[in-house]
Amino acid sequence: MTAAGPRVDAPPRAPGAHPLFGHLKPLLLDPLGLLAALPHLGDVVELRFGRTPTYVVCSPEAAQQVLRNPDRAFDKGGTFYENVRSLVGDGMATCPLAEHKRLRRLAQPAFRTDRMSGYARTIHAQVEAATSTWRHGQVLDALPEMRSLATRTTFATMFRRRELGPEIDGLRRAVTDFVEHQTVLRMVAPIVNRLPTARNHRYRASEARLLRFLDGEIAAYRADGTDHGDLMSMFTTSPDGDPLTDAEVRDTVMTVLLGGITTTAVSHAWALHQLSLDAALDAEVAAEARAAAPLDTPDAVDRLPLTRGVVAEVLRHRTAGWIFPRVAVTDTTIGSRRVPAGAQVLLSPYVLHHRPDLFAAPDNFDPRRWDGRDPHRTKGWLPFGAGESKCIGYELAFMDLTLSLADIVRSWRPLPCPTPVRPRPRLHLEPHGLTLRLAERDPR
Ligand code: HEM
Repeated sequence: MTAAGPRVDAPPRAPGAHPLFGHLKPLLLDPLGLLAALPHLGDVVELRFGRTPTYVVCSPEAAQQVLRNPDRAFDKGGTFYENVRSLVGDGMATCPLAEHKRLRRLAQPAFRTDRMSGYARTIHAQVEAATSTWRHGQVLDALPEMRSLATRTTFATMFRRRELGPEIDGLRRAVTDFVEHQTVLRMVAPIVNRLPTARNHRYRASEARLLRFLDGEIAAYRADGTDHGDLMSMFTTSPDGDPLTDAEVRDTVMTVLLGGITTTAVSHAWALHQLSLDAALDAEVAAEARAAAPLDTPDAVDRLPLTRGVVAEVLRHRTAGWIFPRVAVTDTTIGSRRVPAGAQVLLSPYVLHHRPDLFAAPDNFDPRRWDGRDPHRTKGWLPFGAGESKCIGYELAFMDLTLSLADIVRSWRPLPCPTPVRPRPRLHLEPHGLTLRLAERDPR
């Protein structure tokens, strides 16, 4: 699909570009404000920073075209990926499309519906363990706490061969170091990672810790050869004689760990924040959760329609994966806009989720908009992406968010603290400054 067909034009450029630095300043200072202003300029809008032309996709149709990629005109790549690639190597999320299909096929069985029962039990056990130390009146630093819960749950669904014990704390710190490292500056200028700073040094040390742990586990799983009903058993065995190599298992596990933990943690934290702001909603979700117990099976999700609405709305309103890139591998078009080979194309679910023509009053948090509506079939709702690289963990993530939220809220009421909370876009969209006061609900 090139210029031979109907007339195509270059995408409009967003206003306010500096002659030298382009849109770098607004991108660093207020990326969400910059993005929110783009859709009224067109379906595809040019931003400038650095020498590579960069285009932001602003309509659901254009996003579907890029993600479903029928002409193979786009691949993974661009400066936004380089940061992440340094840790997850050529894992499923970052490898070129040529290698992607095989990695995805080999990892897919771990996310089959019949594995979900085991994962639901693990999720319930980890929420119980995490909340057992909470006390009435305690002030919770919500994001680190939810990151800790998500780390425990992800490691427990991944490595069931043995109890991880105290080493989990070191692993949690390593994951936190990685996440803290991901700033928008590093996403647009990955060269910053190569500077000899204390922060880069700490990051490398955490990376080495995670990799040492993984190499030991891969060797142990290979030697053992038993199916422990966990992700690692699936990654280290192959029913069709084409197993993942050690390097591929390592990159895949790193992708799942970092993709799964950080996204789930920020979404949990945002959900608790929203409930803390709305006492009536919180009471309804708590009542629903109590009526739906026990909460350790996948079918409990069906008994939690309002909680599901809260989760769908968090994923819309404060979508964790607020931006992710592709690269045009050939001269092509998106809709009626020309995009040259080598251009970086940015997909932003945040932009789509805040279009008033798709979601009425998009800045309002309104779980009721999902009453009787399936988010997965809703035009423009793309928190997990789409096409062949759609989040492989999306069913697990939705189940985890729904069951854990219900499990927490049936016993604990999150109350707001006076500190201001604002969305902070880093690798994922974080609730900056979020602390909550815990109130224990009366046991019934
Ligand atoms: C709220 C939770 C989550 C959100 C919002 C989320 C979002 C996303 C998005 C937007 C993508 C597509 C990126 C792209 O197309 O470039 C993705 C891919 C991926 N996600 Fe998630 N994710 C979540 C949870 C999880 C969990 C729990 C796991 C695993 C346990 C996981 C594993 C992955 C993997 C392996 C990929 C790469 C898939 C591929 O390229 O084929 N994610 N995720």
